[in-house]
Amino acid sequence: MRPTHAKDRPATAPPWPSAATAGAPLPLKPPVDDREGHVEDEACQGASTPFPACSVEVREADADVPGAVGRMLDGVLAERLRRARSADPLFAEELAERVARFTLTGGKRTRAQLVWWAARACAGPDPAAAAAALRLGGAVELLQTCALVHDDVMDRAALRRGRPALHADLAERYAGRVGAERFGQSAAVLAGDLALAWADDLVAETPLSPPAAALVRRLWSDMRTEMVAGQYLDVKGQITAAWSLPRVRRAACLKSALYSVERPLALGAAVAGADDVTLRRLSDAGRCVGMAFQLRDDVEDVFGDPRETGKTCGGDIREGKPTYLVAVARSRAEAARDGAALAVLERWLGDAALTGHGLEQMREVLVRTGARAAVESTIDRLAALGLRHFDRAVLDAEGAGPLRALLLATAGARPDGNAARQRPADTPRASPVRGGAGGGG
Ligand code: IPE
Ligand code: IPE
Ligand code: MG
Ligand code: MG
Ligand code: MG
Repeated sequence: MRPTHAKDRPATAPPWPSAATAGAPLPLKPPVDDREGHVEDEACQGASTPFPACSVEVREADADVPGAVGRMLDGVLAERLRRARSADPLFAEELAERVARFTLTGGKRTRAQLVWWAARACAGPDPAAAAAALRLGGAVELLQTCALVHDDVMDRAALRRGRPALHADLAERYAGRVGAERFGQSAAVLAGDLALAWADDLVAETPLSPPAAALVRRLWSDMRTEMVAGQYLDVKGQITAAWSLPRVRRAACLKSALYSVERPLALGAAVAGADDVTLRRLSDAGRCVGMAFQLRDDVEDVFGDPRETGKTCGGDIREGKPTYLVAVARSRAEAARDGAALAVLERWLGDAALTGHGLEQMREVLVRTGARAAVESTIDRLAALGLRHFDRAVLDAEGAGPLRALLLATAGARPDGNAARQRPADTPRASPVRGGAGGGG
């Protein structure tokens, strides 16, 4: 594969409304900032760090990354369950096993795949980097268990991954008893805590070279904090009805884009010993794709099919969530002095008794104000921008193609959108690669 000249192209500004209309772009620190400079300088030197021996069959895992992550988690969680049983058999059966089952049996494992392919794209088929990536991918999936189990309590969501949410499942088990609902919520708080503790254990027990370990620790710590910060802004936005576009974008970025895409990519790059330019390009790509991912999730919450999303429709409306989609509708309705649209938004947002008719009215307003179309095209532009950042990174050919495809799918861009019209990575000039065509090393 030949390098493209994309590196010489300046990346364009994020496709958000201009600062004049919607405030400045996210004032978050850059993906990797100066404060950790000395850590990166050390951590990113040389991909050939002396990891302990490992047993990952790299090509076998390539063929089914979610399966490989699942097998690794199977082993790790079996051990955790054994210890949970020795702590207390009832706790193990009712809570710990639910946490393990939730992690092992559901989800797309997008984050783990991102860690894996970022490591593959940065280190080639290096078995030690691959082994570390698999474990860190599993750890991110355990963090996801924590995030989702807690999120469903906070969002009062009854359905997750097509099944009863963990808190609802436990409440159902004790249905008829006074306080069953509260019990379910309390137990879900503990279940999320357990998943987070197991996630932290898995990171701590992953063999890494000292420089990679320092960077991974920093990324992992930031990722947990960012996710909690975003969830806080999300729930706070519900009660303060904070609908400014910069506010809702910031919450979306923190609660989702960072832990869903940007940080998993950075973790994969870190275990691969990627240089800081590569780390930054992947992180920039990840932030754009991560934002697109959350905006798509918001659209699907209103317009999606529960049989596909595994979640109930209209949850964000019922809860009065300050999503970007609704914030755009509100700002457009205000600008157009569309009183009828504003009345519908006012009527149904935050109404737990949202009816089918109410959902239809909301959908109609989101379409009529042009909010849905505007968000869809923002998703496309974010996906395209993310891929432009990605294409500027110098990567191993074998990993770059699958990673690019995964990013495109994660962004949820429309098949005919800007991003999809870009040249795919497995054709010449798509992505500067190292190691030559098909050269996996
Ligand atoms: C759901 O994430 C939570 C969000 C950040 C939107 P996913 O859509 O990746 O959920 P699973 O893990 O595949 O169930
Ligand atoms: C998810 O946000 C963020 C986290 C789980 C940390 P949402 O509340 O939009 O996610 P879903 O739609 O319930 O999956
Ligand atoms: Mg939710
Ligand atoms: Mg939520
Ligand atoms: Mg959602």
